[in-house]
Amino acid sequence: MKLVRFLMKNAGLVHLPRQLEHYSKFSPSPLSIKQFIDFGSRNACERTSYVFLRQELPVRLANIMKEINLLPDNLLSTPSVQLVQSWYVQSFMDILKYEGKDPESDVLSGFMETLVNIRNRHNDVVPTVAQGVIEYKETYGVDPVTSQNVQYFLDRFYMSRISIRMIINQHTLLFNGSLNPAHPKHIGSIDPNCNAVEVVKDAFENAKMLCYQYYLGCPELEVSQFNIQGAEEEVHMVYIPSHLYHVLFELFKNSMRATVEHHDALGTAYPAIKVMVSLGKEDLSIKVSDRGGGVPLRKIERLFNYMYSTAPRPHIDTARAAPLAGFGYGLPISRLYARYFQGDIQLYSMEGYGTDAVIYLKALSSESVERLPVFNKSVFKHYQVNQEADDWCVPSSEPRNLATYRS
Ligand SMILES: Nc1ncnc2c1ncn2[C@@H]1O[C@H](COP(=O)(O)OP(=O)(O)O)[C@@H](O)[C@H]1O
Ligand SMILES: [Mg+2]
Repeated sequence: MKLVRFLMKNAGLVHLPRQLEHYSKFSPSPLSIKQFIDFGSRNACERTSYVFLRQELPVRLANIMKEINLLPDNLLSTPSVQLVQSWYVQSFMDILKYEGKDPESDVLSGFMETLVNIRNRHNDVVPTVAQGVIEYKETYGVDPVTSQNVQYFLDRFYMSRISIRMIINQHTLLFNGSLNPAHPKHIGSIDPNCNAVEVVKDAFENAKMLCYQYYLGCPELEVSQFNIQGAEEEVHMVYIPSHLYHVLFELFKNSMRATVEHHDALGTAYPAIKVMVSLGKEDLSIKVSDRGGGVPLRKIERLFNYMYSTAPRPHIDTARAAPLAGFGYGLPISRLYARYFQGDIQLYSMEGYGTDAVIYLKALSSESVERLPVFNKSVFKHYQVNQEADDWCVPSSEPRNLATYRS
């Protein structure tokens, strides 16, 4: 295995495989937003958080590090993936230094510093892995099995990363000794009284600036809300505003680009992007509707596919297109943010007309529980090469034996 080879080259790391084995045997412990809030408000205790993270971080890291090794060898050995793997090894070892250390104050401050270093070290994981996928594709091409494995892996890998950053952020924000002056009521990164429409407007305004910059024009926003608890009530939720912002910002950039390009081609005015926020008993749903010409049904699934997305697109003027549209990870990563607390994103498109993107979130903070990958035997099955014949006929564009029928 690649990791073992890497470790053998680094004499100081000889115990690592054993520790990796050890920690990967534990399942990660998913927390609900309610638990994050309860812990952070009433009895926020840095020592308790330290003891929890000292165990939970290596568990989450080890679970996903074991899975990295199941990637196709040719992807695993790309320089980009090797680099990312070395970051994981380093961070895993950094945390293990706290095994058996009592939470004295100098230990706690060292731990805080370690967490900040880890967070910074992993800043560029997403584009670096994406680069690895591009390198792989350029050399080996794409086949359905690899594409499926990479999709399965990256959804789990990026989800793991989101979760690790979440628990690191909670610790560093809660215990860095200062209140967040802009948001004194936030509990770490969580807003217990998050106004959904405010986040919508904020994300829209920032996307609009980019859109103006690149197209010198932009559709307007029309937003409305419905609250089952009372027609007059605004929709508030317990959520991580930065996650919701991220998702909305990506959806707005897509809707703006589609609207502008579609209507510039038609020579017509830009129809507004309409947003509906609805709070029910179980779901909080946010629908973003555009009239950007839509996407054919056949292509919808691809929009969430990492291997398909990272296709280098030489026909696009990247300098111009980059800020409003990236390397195609907007939708898949946004969907992970929504799924992280048991929500989802669905796209409903009508080709020719436009697209509705619906973000589903849990209405209750007790039901917003982290969705975390776990490394176990059933994971292996997903990576097994399984290229069976299709059990549905492949349609041909022309009836093949028409001539024989005629004669
Ligand atoms: N609202 C939309 N209307 C039309 N096409 C869309 C819409 N949203 C996404 N798409 C298509 O899906 C692709 C992938 O979107 P995304 O994952 O955000 O990556 P990127 O925007 O970087 O290309 C876009 O390039 C675009 O072709
Ligand atoms: Mg996008």
